Amino acid sequence: MGSARLADKVAFVTGGTSNIGLGIARRFLEEGAAVTVVGRDPGRCREATGALAAAVPEGRVLGVSADVADPTALEAALDASERAHGPLDILVCSAGVGVVQLVSRTTEEDWQGILQTNLSGTWRAARLAMPRMSAHGGGSIITIGSDAALNGERRLGAYSVSKAAVVMLTRMLALDGAPDRIRANCICPGFIVPGMRGFPDRMAGEPEGDTAAGIPLPPWGRHGTSADIAASAVWLASDEASFVTGIALPVEGGITAGIPEYGEDEWARARAAGRTEEVG
Ligand SMILES: NC(=O)c1ccc[n+]([C@@H]2O[C@H](COP(=O)([O-])OP(=O)(O)OC[C@H]3O[C@@H](n4cnc5c(N)ncnc54)[C@H](OP(=O)(O)O)[C@@H]3O)[C@@H](O)[C@H]2O)c1
Repeated sequence: MGSARLADKVAFVTGGTSNIGLGIARRFLEEGAAVTVVGRDPGRCREATGALAAAVPEGRVLGVSADVADPTALEAALDASERAHGPLDILVCSAGVGVVQLVSRTTEEDWQGILQTNLSGTWRAARLAMPRMSAHGGGSIITIGSDAALNGERRLGAYSVSKAAVVMLTRMLALDGAPDRIRANCICPGFIVPGMRGFPDRMAGEPEGDTAAGIPLPPWGRHGTSADIAASAVWLASDEASFVTGIALPVEGGITAGIPEYGEDEWARARAAGRTEEVG
């Protein structure tokens, strides 16, 4: 099964039924882990589980529908994962939502909803998973932040705040987890095609179906894919990263590195040398 960098590991992926979480779940299966994917919508859960089973027929995958806002449902999902696959080694917290809105115009409802899923949902999943991991000799927690956690994005006000808090939450989990051999790290993706569900509906004026419209390309010259994020997640989950904990890892084509100010001649040179890539 590939290079099997996660052979015999058991992983639980919140938000594993779509885009980034689904891509991580697939790579984990390919690397030999048994995987449970979690999302609220039971239909999407079934669809994702079927797609994963078809893509990696030798893989062990379970889908459980649960809301990260509900501790009882999350605990039941962790129990189901343990019954199916055994003790937990890896938690990925990819469940997330956002609203395109300035922080000063965010409604009470949107503010509470974004923090409840992105921050409290991540904290809740980690809090429930950690005793299971420590009873089993340790583990790896991977949270999903955003480039907006590092360089706030004005149009994503509350979302940027929630993701910056996820970075600090991850550091606190790293401090708490170290004595129990639990590592915690945050991946901060840039724009990952096709973008988060729900965002396009709320982007007034942007062409339907083109979620990347208006989003600037990073210095690397293309947007990211779930495979880019999955590659980092495999490394952070694996024993190769056994001395890595408490970090926020940007995986975003350099968009948080600074303001590039490339001239057209530099792009022309890159294009002529075939160094530009098109994705999405
Ligand atoms: N895509 C990007 O450009 C991008 C960039 C930076 C960071 N991120 C972050 O990466 C993560 C994944 O993004 P994505 O593009 O994969 O988003 P997505 O396609 O919208 O998928 C979100 C996933 O989270 C689940 N989810 C949402 N709320 C939940 C809840 N309360 N309880 C349980 N599951 C819930 C969704 O399933 P249900 O709706 O069925 O619950 C779905 O599986 C998010 O945390 C996002 O903030 C995304």
